Amino acid sequence: MKILVTGAAGFIGANFVYYELGRFPDDEIVGLDALTYAGNLETLDEALKNPKFKFVKADITDAAAIDALFAAEAFDLVINFAAESHVDRSIEDPGIFLRTNILGTQVLMDAALKYKVPRYHQVSTDEVYGDLPLNRPDLLFTERTPIHTSSPYSASKASADLLCQAYLRTFGLPATISRCSNNYGPYQFPEKLIPLMIANCLADKPLPVYGEGLNVRDWLYVVDHCKAIDLVARSDRIGEVYNIGGHNEMTNIDIVKLILKALGKPESLITYVTDRKGHDMRYAIDPQKITTDLGWAPETMFADGIVRTIDWYLTNRDWWERITSGEYLAYYEKMYGDR
Ligand SMILES: NC(=O)c1ccc[n+]([C@@H]2O[C@H](COP(=O)([O-])OP(=O)(O)OC[C@H]3O[C@@H](n4cnc5c(N)ncnc54)[C@H](O)[C@@H]3O)[C@@H](O)[C@H]2O)c1
Repeated sequence: MKILVTGAAGFIGANFVYYELGRFPDDEIVGLDALTYAGNLETLDEALKNPKFKFVKADITDAAAIDALFAAEAFDLVINFAAESHVDRSIEDPGIFLRTNILGTQVLMDAALKYKVPRYHQVSTDEVYGDLPLNRPDLLFTERTPIHTSSPYSASKASADLLCQAYLRTFGLPATISRCSNNYGPYQFPEKLIPLMIANCLADKPLPVYGEGLNVRDWLYVVDHCKAIDLVARSDRIGEVYNIGGHNEMTNIDIVKLILKALGKPESLITYVTDRKGHDMRYAIDPQKITTDLGWAPETMFADGIVRTIDWYLTNRDWWERITSGEYLAYYEKMYGDR
């Protein structure tokens, strides 16, 4: 089997590449990435030593480059992880989110149709469902929850999902979609909550927490997510949407306090900053459908996953310290400097 993994130099895409190379050593993987600020080729250093893996630098909105790639490689499966993924950045500059997340998806699906790729999988997010109230813990997102987006990021991801379903219905694209809750684990770019807090803790820098830190997210260990995507993409469930969640709701402030405690740092490092515009209060996924259909369930308890993640950031300081210099620093100042 030959698989195209787009966004392969990003957090989940890279973890997926490693999961596949480990689990299916006979499969060939082409990892594609535009290497935006969020893509880091160093993350794929080990994969690049494997003859079954090949890296292609390309932009998914570049129709000519994508067409040439699909013409040259007979893919059996395309999995689209490539995206602009940070909500805060989508509030600052929505345009690039619409280009990559919507038009890039269109370009990939057009190529998949033209070259008759047997399977296309779209990696989406629970953010397409909007948010849930804090005082209704009984409510969870199911695959039937209406799309109701809050940020340019989630609107762009929802648009891609709708386009994908339209390609399935109109052109017969053999597609599946998965919508996942917040991931954590190795190789996550240090602008996202957990790696940002770990990095700041280690540098004894303030930990910026939006509002009162009461927003609730459903955290899933990235390898569990990769396993779920693999199951869906290799299943016979064409046309289905699957929610993927960790059964693990936590407030942002509890996560931050847990990281401080694990690293032996004082809570006085917490700095509350003006809340994000349109900040969703609570995400919570009901993953019953994927459990019933495909036998998937989250395996990593948060207590174990967070220890593993903190250990990874402690032993891979080179990886993230190089990132936290340069362009990223200027962005960080802009987002949090005067709040
Ligand atoms: N991280 C999460 O918690 C989470 C949760 C649910 C869904 N998702 C979805 O999972 C996917 C991967 O997320 P992530 O956290 O790994 O994101 P990420 O930002 O770490 O990685 C995205 C990758 O896509 C690449 N990319 C961006 N624009 C591109 C373009 N035009 N062409 C080719 N490559 C491009 C970037 O260089 C980067 O390597 C995204 O589609 C995201 O919406 C993420």
